[in-house]
Amino acid sequence: MRLDKVIEQNLKTTRKEMKRLFLMKKVFVDGVVELNPQRNVDSQLHDIRVEEQKLQTNHVYYLLNKPNGVVTAKKDIKFQTATDLIAADERPAHLYPVGRLDRDTTGLLLLTDNGQLGYDLLQPGSKVSKTYRVTVNERVTDDDVTAFAKGIVFHGGIRCQPAQLEIVSSEPKYSEVLLTIKEGKFHQVKKMFLACGKKVTKLTRLTMGPLELPEDLAEGEYRSVTPAELQRLKSYFR
Ligand code: URA
Repeated sequence: MRLDKVIEQNLKTTRKEMKRLFLMKKVFVDGVVELNPQRNVDSQLHDIRVEEQKLQTNHVYYLLNKPNGVVTAKKDIKFQTATDLIAADERPAHLYPVGRLDRDTTGLLLLTDNGQLGYDLLQPGSKVSKTYRVTVNERVTDDDVTAFAKGIVFHGGIRCQPAQLEIVSSEPKYSEVLLTIKEGKFHQVKKMFLACGKKVTKLTRLTMGPLELPEDLAEGEYRSVTPAELQRLKSYFR
């Protein structure tokens, strides 16, 4: 949450008082004077103090193993949404999935009501890498690995950034690969393979930045981000 919002919520500060607190250097984050009221903070990660008083936030962060058939839109009239899978008493009003996964894509999805973190993780400049396990209906070859490393060009001319493709198994009508990309174009993985004349038949996200799909999380299950996982997200709090 923005630092000024944290102060406002905790101390019921007026705008004028808020200005004064920052001007008078009364606001500290992790022991250092903070001058930026818009800085994103969380009391699980940061020591937030105003004139010695410790302030709290109450954001939630969940890792969901998204199942097939569920959409990542906030609301949908036809399909179940990712937020529907979070128990009602653990679901704050402004809980959103960070980024999109197609309805038939499974795997790692971060949900949080810290909108600023979600926004910052999705900025192209953040270069958050994502690894997918991809099943393809054809043999994937070393030439494909080279083409992905150079940068796939979609039908229509859009060029992707270089991506890392690792072949796990490759047979004439079935291959399994691990693909790591650092951008998030619409249907990116499916389109990258289409550009090579191949069809993705199953797609699962395994990692997003420093987060990994927990091995013990079945499809449709979720759990809170651990303190260690949150710590790994700290550099994305700006
Ligand atoms: N790329 C896709 O094509 N689909 C997803 O759901 C995610 C990445």
